[in-house]
Amino acid sequence: MKFFVDTADIAEIRELAATGMLDGVTTNPTLISKTGRPFKEVIAEICSVVPGPVSAEVAATDLDGMLREGRILAKIAKNVAVKVPLTWDGLKACKALSGEGTMVNVTVCFTAVQALLAAKVGATFISPFAGRLDDIGLDGMEVVREIRQVYDNYPHLKTQLLAASIRTINNVRDAALAGADVATVPPAVLKGLVKHPLTDKAIEIFLADWKKTGQTIS
Ligand code: E4P
Repeated sequence: MKFFVDTADIAEIRELAATGMLDGVTTNPTLISKTGRPFKEVIAEICSVVPGPVSAEVAATDLDGMLREGRILAKIAKNVAVKVPLTWDGLKACKALSGEGTMVNVTVCFTAVQALLAAKVGATFISPFAGRLDDIGLDGMEVVREIRQVYDNYPHLKTQLLAASIRTINNVRDAALAGADVATVPPAVLKGLVKHPLTDKAIEIFLADWKKTGQTIS
């Protein structure tokens, strides 16, 4: 499973890119607003740090507006994936932009049938928002599993399943178990993946015992 980081914070992105484990970045208007910086400038900077896909979302909701904005965003860098919402106009924009060779991430997906529509119009990525389904008492990962099954039933569909709105380490585990192609994960959760108290404890014990030997490795 590929790891994308779900942030527009360039310092966090640089730190995670240095691990060699970052495959891409997703942003959304909320994350961009937190930076307080010009949108295109932020996307250009992220694209220069991470060679993988960097999602940048259109603000328009009508087809012409989405196409105009999508083409502007696609020109920022080769690795921009234009994010469009899962509406009829968003799907039409996806088909047109994909046809022009632009990567498209169809976002705010909440059902497997929505995901099927996105795949049929050539989306590069489909983003089911698992956490937001959990927020209203539904099972977000169940939708991720359903999309996996639907896509696997029709192998000619090439859309990558990008589990989004991931909030916890267990969400990451469940996305991997569900066979998501990608999980986009907030920086704090991504950094937390390595941690386990028994790992820390084992290292502590080994270090203490090693000290007793009085040896060095040289
Ligand atoms: C994905 O592309 C979205 O930016 C993101 O995962 C939304 O997550 P949230 O529901 O935690 O805001």
